[in-house]
Amino acid sequence: MWTRDQAGSGLLEKTNTPTFRANISEGRKIMAESKKDMLVMWLRDAYSMEKQAIDMLQSHAGRLENYPELKARTEQHLGQTRVQADRVQDCLSRLGADTSTIKELTARFTAGVQAVMGTTAGDEVVKNAMGDYTFEHFEISSYRCLIATAEEVGEPEIARILGQNLREEEEQAAWLADHLPQVTRQYLQKLEAAGGDTSSAKR
Ligand SMILES: [Fe+2]
Ligand SMILES: [Fe+2]
Repeated sequence: MWTRDQAGSGLLEKTNTPTFRANISEGRKIMAESKKDMLVMWLRDAYSMEKQAIDMLQSHAGRLENYPELKARTEQHLGQTRVQADRVQDCLSRLGADTSTIKELTARFTAGVQAVMGTTAGDEVVKNAMGDYTFEHFEISSYRCLIATAEEVGEPEIARILGQNLREEEEQAAWLADHLPQVTRQYLQKLEAAGGDTSSAKR
């Protein structure tokens, strides 16, 4: 069995060489680069996510006719989302990366949500609101991970910028949480008033 001195002196001999010190230094550099690569990769996913959000919110707001409060709020968040995409692009530029070859991760996520929700149904206002609420939480989780990563790689300005996006997603999720019951009740009342005809109630 090794004593502490034996182990210590052996280790000291092995580690006190220029080659070992160079390897340690190179290893740290690779780790740091790898963390930053993850930040870039996840920022690109977030950019794709926001682009997808723009398409989705545009489509949802454009179809609403009889829910003025929900329409106004959706349009307001659409405006915020365009700014959010620009902020993510700004973060990528700060890291010397761009958005030219973004993969379509979020397209698959949104397609999955839409498949579950069935957006062409006679209850689309409720299903779209549920989908939007779900999507806000996807965005919240993305920004929470991104902010932790930015802090971990020593990019406080990027963490601060992403914090603005996170706050807006949380505010939108909270608004939707408050208003989902109201939207649902309005839909049911319109449906009843129209004798079960979904054409005006559904949007
Ligand atoms: Fe967003
Ligand atoms: Fe959002």
